Amino acid sequence: MELTPMIDKSSFEPIYLQIYNYIQEEIIAGRIEADSKLPSIRRLAQYLNISRTPVALAYDQLLAEGYIKSKPRSGYFAENVESIARSNYNLKQNKVSPTGNYSPIHHFYHSYQNDAIKYDFGYGTIDLHHFPLAKWRKFMNRSLLPENSFHLLYGDIQGEIGLRKEIASYLHQNRGVRCSPDQIVIGAGTFHSLDLLFQLIQNRTTSIAVESSVHVGVKALLNKFPFQVEPLDLELDGINLNKLKKKEVQAIYLTPSYQFPYGMTLSINKRIKLLKYATENQFYIIENDYDGEFRYNNRPIPSLQSLDNNGRVIYLGTFSKSLTPSFRISYLVLPTDLLCLFHLGKHSYDQHASPIFQKTLQWFMESGDFERHMRKMRTLYQKKHAIITSRFSDIFEDKIEIVGAGAGLHIVIKVKNDMDELKLIDTAKQFGVNVYPTSIYKIENHQEQDNILLLGFGGLSETAIEEGLRLLKIAWFPNNP
Ligand SMILES: Cc1ncc(COP(=O)(O)O)c(C=O)c1O
Repeated sequence: MELTPMIDKSSFEPIYLQIYNYIQEEIIAGRIEADSKLPSIRRLAQYLNISRTPVALAYDQLLAEGYIKSKPRSGYFAENVESIARSNYNLKQNKVSPTGNYSPIHHFYHSYQNDAIKYDFGYGTIDLHHFPLAKWRKFMNRSLLPENSFHLLYGDIQGEIGLRKEIASYLHQNRGVRCSPDQIVIGAGTFHSLDLLFQLIQNRTTSIAVESSVHVGVKALLNKFPFQVEPLDLELDGINLNKLKKKEVQAIYLTPSYQFPYGMTLSINKRIKLLKYATENQFYIIENDYDGEFRYNNRPIPSLQSLDNNGRVIYLGTFSKSLTPSFRISYLVLPTDLLCLFHLGKHSYDQHASPIFQKTLQWFMESGDFERHMRKMRTLYQKKHAIITSRFSDIFEDKIEIVGAGAGLHIVIKVKNDMDELKLIDTAKQFGVNVYPTSIYKIENHQEQDNILLLGFGGLSETAIEEGLRLLKIAWFPNNP
């Protein structure tokens, strides 16, 4: 079959969109019959005298929306429009997705109602006493003035352009990220953004490599999408790249600045090697830089995205640590090919981050208040980090090893007594202290129990940290006061 869409190179409508629209209309109108074979990407590109990229993008989107199907070694075929309608209906019926290994023992959930807990080393918390309430209120009030009431309506699906501009400039200055505001897509939290990203790449992704331990939110998403998951071992300087070389993957997910949960940093050598493999093998690197702003003992490490010259890195960030988790604002920085896919399908995604909060955040950033807040919080968290690490060494000496520290809002410790993870958590609880497991983050469920724990320090005062550690000493080493 030959296809002859009218390609207008002078049009504002991108070429891939013109091809996509044409084929979609032809299928719906029945002029391309169900099960008929479409020309290959190479052939159509040659025939239209254009590069393969726009044709591939158009086919990708048609595949994603179910207008065409791909048969291994045979090519692309038109779907039956009635079955498209039926499958859309089925999808709607089947909305609740399995959550897989999602564990209810989740460090995010602060034990608000539990009076018996005096000190909670919960990880999802931030320092509430230093939140700039008055400044935030000023901008929030502005967003509710009558002249701004249009922010009560739906916002731009990609996110408010003013906020995207602020984020692009902030990322450039603080994380070395090179991007234009057009590449940014605002979401309602890291896992909402990751979900959107997985939707974008799912048709071109069979296998995805991931760190051998990842956040439970990432685990839940890996279960939801039909990816083959390839866990990579973690070493002191980040993922084991030798294993990656042996695997054929289309994407890799990682937290290079401060591995979650264990806290190692991907070394510069490994960063360069990883970018090289990604370029040679054309896979994406999904960089979750969830707390890359906070680094205490040395200079902030530039993001992987800042070293990438070939559009392989997809950068993912959040305001949950730098400001507060409650506003639910995260962002994706997409390379241009994925941006095209996003625009093609954007009406089937949804903008979940409230336009009012986005606008307020934009003004907060424009005023310089965000930068000032970050400077203050860096100093504050640095102090808390110094206290928790030094007090652990003083109080516990060699009975505890600090496995991960130096950045972010949590540390990871290995307790050297005969208790396993659950026992350590339970015993601490009996003494009024909450500490958290790390085994729930493992991709592969090992039978053996660890004695490695995660302790957040962002939400605790310096005195509370000190007191909490004293109680832990009594709980875990009762014979060594
Ligand atoms: C690895 C990782 N990514 C992202 C986040 C933040 O998620 P969100 O943006 O949904 O608050 C966290 C936790 O705070 C995390 O541990």
